[in-house]
Amino acid sequence: MTIKEAQKRDLDKIMESDPAAIDRRTAAMTYAGYKALSIYRRAHKSWLKGHKRYALWLSWQAKKETGIDIHPAATIGTRVFIDHGVGVVIGETAEIGDDVVLYQGVTLGGTGKHTGKRHPTLENGVMVSAGASILGPVRIGEGSKIGAGSVVLKDVPPYSTVVGVPGRVVKQYGERVEMDQRLPDPVLEEFARINKRVFALEQAAGIHSCRYSLTTDEDNMDGEDGND
Ligand SMILES: CC(C)(COP(=O)(O)OP(=O)(O)OC[C@H]1O[C@@H](n2cnc3c(N)ncnc32)[C@H](O)[C@@H]1OP(=O)(O)O)[C@@H](O)C(=O)NCCC(=O)NCCS
Repeated sequence: MTIKEAQKRDLDKIMESDPAAIDRRTAAMTYAGYKALSIYRRAHKSWLKGHKRYALWLSWQAKKETGIDIHPAATIGTRVFIDHGVGVVIGETAEIGDDVVLYQGVTLGGTGKHTGKRHPTLENGVMVSAGASILGPVRIGEGSKIGAGSVVLKDVPPYSTVVGVPGRVVKQYGERVEMDQRLPDPVLEEFARINKRVFALEQAAGIHSCRYSLTTDEDNMDGEDGND
């Protein structure tokens, strides 16, 4: 595919995705993401031909102009939309499919622990929200959404929504993924243990007590309601 064809497809995506886009010409002139991708496409071509210094210089120009830092060796599909864009970083071995949307502040970076392939792979149709970081050679499955501010360190299955730090899957194929998200509460657990022992002592002493409901699942009193 020629650079011109790729640019046309990128503009198609902008016009389909951004309700704020008024027309193709204006988008081409004013969208930082479109500009950075256009320069990347030239830089990538030069990189593949072995003109690495020129390719890196082009990337530097794009970064100065747009605040978007794309390594010329990264592999990026078409119909890609980098919205707003400032602060986006795309590392050398990152791979991005088609129909991907990235918002401002997204990092597709390395963890510092890997050599060789050390940046993420985003399959087709992935959306990465503002300020999210995807780190290491992880794979984000087709059609997945990464929530704003998330930090993703593991592979993500297709059509998932991931949020949080570290990122966890909260939805898949539009359905909520149920998770036990309670944190252990050692004080509550200790009170529940004391409560259980007091109750047992009262029972042994023949005292009718009014049990209150301070229990944890672990210390559940097996159906005794204690409300004598
Ligand atoms: C993640 C996101 C894409 C929503 O995806 P979704 O599949 O529609 O998911 P939902 O909105 O149903 O949210 C699922 C759960 O994740 C939570 N959640 C959503 N986004 C979150 C985030 N960024 N951080 C933490 N939790 C988040 C929701 O509160 C919800 O939790 P609940 O079920 O306990 O109420 C979206 O919320 C988001 O982050 N958008 C940001 C887009 C962006 O960058 N815009 C910038 C424009 S300039």
